[in-house]
Amino acid sequence: GSPAAAASVAASAAASAMDSPALISAVKELFEEALAAVVPAGIPTQLAMVAPTDQKNAQLGDYQCNNAMALFGMCKKLGADNPFKSPRAVAEAILAALPENELIKKTDIAGPGFINVTLNDSLLATTAARIVTDGVAWLAPTSRKGKKVIIDYSSPNVAKEMHVGHLRSTIIGESLARTYTFCGASVLALNHVGDWGTQFGMLIEHLNDQKAAGKATDDESVSDLTAFYKQAKARFDEEDEFKDRARKRVTTLQGGDKESLRMWQEICDVSRKEFSKVYDRLDVNRLEERGESFYNPFLPETVKELLSIGVAIESDGAVCVFPEGKGPDDENVAPLIVRKSDGGFGYATTDLASIRHRIDVEKGDELVYVTDVGQSLHFQGFFDAAKRAKWWDPEKTRVEHVGFGLVLGEDGKRFRTRSGDTVKLASLLDEAVSRCHDNISQRNEEAYGGKMSKDEVSEAARIMGYGACKYADLKNNRTSNYVFSYDRMLELKGNTAVYLLYAHARVAQILVKAGVADEAGMKVALESADGNIPLNMDKILEDGKAVVHITAPQERALALHIARLPEMLDDTLDGLNPHRICEYLYELANFYSSFYTECRVVGSDQQKSRLLLCESTARVMRKCLDLLGIEALYRL
Ligand code: ARG
Repeated sequence: GSPAAAASVAASAAASAMDSPALISAVKELFEEALAAVVPAGIPTQLAMVAPTDQKNAQLGDYQCNNAMALFGMCKKLGADNPFKSPRAVAEAILAALPENELIKKTDIAGPGFINVTLNDSLLATTAARIVTDGVAWLAPTSRKGKKVIIDYSSPNVAKEMHVGHLRSTIIGESLARTYTFCGASVLALNHVGDWGTQFGMLIEHLNDQKAAGKATDDESVSDLTAFYKQAKARFDEEDEFKDRARKRVTTLQGGDKESLRMWQEICDVSRKEFSKVYDRLDVNRLEERGESFYNPFLPETVKELLSIGVAIESDGAVCVFPEGKGPDDENVAPLIVRKSDGGFGYATTDLASIRHRIDVEKGDELVYVTDVGQSLHFQGFFDAAKRAKWWDPEKTRVEHVGFGLVLGEDGKRFRTRSGDTVKLASLLDEAVSRCHDNISQRNEEAYGGKMSKDEVSEAARIMGYGACKYADLKNNRTSNYVFSYDRMLELKGNTAVYLLYAHARVAQILVKAGVADEAGMKVALESADGNIPLNMDKILEDGKAVVHITAPQERALALHIARLPEMLDDTLDGLNPHRICEYLYELANFYSSFYTECRVVGSDQQKSRLLLCESTARVMRKCLDLLGIEALYRL
């Protein structure tokens, strides 16, 4: 039959036979079977080395298997028992042993022994169609199913301003939480708020004095906690009597004094209100507050155990954990201090208690901590101590510090306001929204003849403004610093949320143009949980079935990219790199754009198949946006 007919043969058998919907895993499985048959006695079992083919070599195939060269190298050591003459001969043997399957259409050997693999179009076509009939969740990778994942993110400090670093932590952590959840994990999102420590002595005393002067906690002088903190600190440094009271207060607070605890709660409440305003704006609502104070009861015991097993030692009155093999007499070592010489516990002690609690009590399979890279040493230090104390077995639990770089101003320096203050998060987001509002209103007049209502313009500006800020942060490799620039993040072209939101809206509008969806449906979609547009299915089904025909290379490239969603997500979680989602989404928009340029949709005799591909693309775009914490727009 014609290639089109061949391509549309249902390949769901092949799809359901795979353990994981990730194409690369399926390819690896096949090659591992082949390798097992080929590897001669005396050589260990080989894992398949399979990688996607570079985009610029796309004509060669979809994946490459690179085992032949390395395996030949090992076989050479067998001397007379080496059954192979060359790496190419190894590649030939691997191909001969490749099990029969419905996944691979064609293979060939290139150069010294690279194996190029081209997948069957039918599998790609079916995958794209099933996203429309079965939903995009059908394509979620299964690698995290049944796993418990604990993600520690945001984690601002009480009575201190939530700064751009906390914003990054919140945005990155939230995206990871969404991605893990989509991939089947049960996620416990923890806000490790800095709500304990010696600073509370002075805060409580200052609050007491303010109250004696007739001020309540909703009074401005108290609710602006940053200013309040500064006042308290100034008094602590200047007034001996106040300093004395503050010190005593720390002791009574840590001793569990009811009145002190109540005042402490009051201060935390003020901060909590401020934090939750930011979370509401950012649509972050799975985060559970479990601050440092939660671990307070476990601290003495934590130190005692470390001492008794010899992981910690006393040094200059403090209790310290030195790096393995190092001690107090070594130079240039920074020990982890788990109890200060005054008997107080600190950040490290709390985190030792937290990792233990998350492994033993919460039974986390993966623990993730999202903070700036500046804290790497702290994390390395307590991870290492926990390992030596046998509280953490790296074989059983994955524990990762997800570090990120700084946010810089356009001058390349730390992001600050003109007056040198830290930038208030609320005003930063407001500014992005207001700029989007101007852009969208203008466009509404120019391109839409004022079709969008005032409310619609405001809503679109909100979505775009927040989306732009989040995307500008997430699209970078997280460990690098990035420059915060409204102009750049709001560019219409290039890798920005604005471009992607427009791209999605254009796809949605094609469905309207074809009469598969209408404007009322777009409103329904905006309000629904999955964002799906109600479709007139009669207009896209062929004999009641959703069928995608692959007839043009641009259709194939688009369908292949869609089918790669699961392997991209596995990659994202393996490296804890949300920028992978951004990269994928941007490429998706570009593949779509080539498809749309080359393949006529509305009015062609492939209309149904191509509309399906459009809707499939739109769904994957929306899912990616959602994983980044960005809402979709349907018209702009
Ligand atoms: N409160 C800390 C800060 O603002 C971040 C806490 C991160 N989480 C942790 N378990 N250490 O820098």
